[in-house]
Amino acid sequence: MTNHIEERLKRVEDKLVETGLDGFIVSGQRNVYYLTGFWGTEATVFIGRNRRLFLTDARYTLIAKQSITADFDIIETRAALEEIAKLLGGSDIKTIGFDEQVTYADYQHLLRVFAEYDLKAQSLFLEDLRMIKDASEIAAIRKACQISDKAFIDVLDFIKPGQTTEMAVNHFLDARMRHYGAECASFEFIVASGYRSAMPHGVASDKVIQSGETLTLDFGCYYDHYVSDMTRTVHVGHVTDEEHRIYETVLAANQALIEAAKAGVTYRQFDQIPRQVIKDAGFGDYFTHGIGHGIGLDIHEYPYFGTSDETIKPNMVLTDEPGIYIPDKYGVRIEDDLLITEDGCEVLTLAPKELIVIK
Ligand code: GLY
Ligand code: MN
Repeated sequence: MTNHIEERLKRVEDKLVETGLDGFIVSGQRNVYYLTGFWGTEATVFIGRNRRLFLTDARYTLIAKQSITADFDIIETRAALEEIAKLLGGSDIKTIGFDEQVTYADYQHLLRVFAEYDLKAQSLFLEDLRMIKDASEIAAIRKACQISDKAFIDVLDFIKPGQTTEMAVNHFLDARMRHYGAECASFEFIVASGYRSAMPHGVASDKVIQSGETLTLDFGCYYDHYVSDMTRTVHVGHVTDEEHRIYETVLAANQALIEAAKAGVTYRQFDQIPRQVIKDAGFGDYFTHGIGHGIGLDIHEYPYFGTSDETIKPNMVLTDEPGIYIPDKYGVRIEDDLLITEDGCEVLTLAPKELIVIK
């Protein structure tokens, strides 16, 4: 059986050689999980060319011993950086990388503790690796998407026009996804009805959902530490011709990207292809955000799209989320999670996308 953690560690060790580093200090709960399988709020990891250190405090030592199967020295301490510096003393490790996203206070701490070393800030050192998912990551994301799909079907019967609040829908989706095996919600859900649906990030409020409104549901869950992120917009009571046209335009943009997405498409094209569909329909000024983002251990992770000529790669999992938002009236967004392959993509979120009117 493939040992995914060992493969990730090997890629980090190769990258140390490529970047001229003797070691790298891993920070961030998700990065630590990615390289060790340990999930907890307190851990520091050092990966050297021939040295792997995992440091945590007494609350987590037993969990670490249980969950870390790769070859790490597991050290119990409340002063992790100082302990690393002590353990590396006298070795030939001199140049140490760290993530440029650490806080200023953490940076000052690093400077103090590693005063004798050559510290080098690194941009996206692990995030670059995390962009390409392995089979175990894809399996977890796939399952998270399946759970979201089922919760969406269930919520359609739960919504009663004139009675149900956005917050009740939020709680229902959350509970349903847990019922189907989710760990928890993957972010603060957007449940935005009527005029609030024109706010791309209108998180659930106490507003009652009324007949005649559009309703945007942007939600997802964690399964085995990996997320899903899906948006569906439904109509309540009835739908006007303009709403219908806007819905079909957003759906056509979402579908255009599904048809075009494959390895080798540039980040610029990934954004442009669906955006052009919306522009051509005359709604270009009303699609005000990026087309999507990577998902994985984080709800928003690299890559992001814009004007770069970098290309998407097989086994990236990317969102496709065009929208049209008419201020003070309503908005529509449709979002899928796409697994990129050599010659196309697989849509992981399979909840229905035809125009739905809840009576
Ligand atoms: N699901 C919220 C977002 O992608 O921004
Ligand atoms: Mn998203």
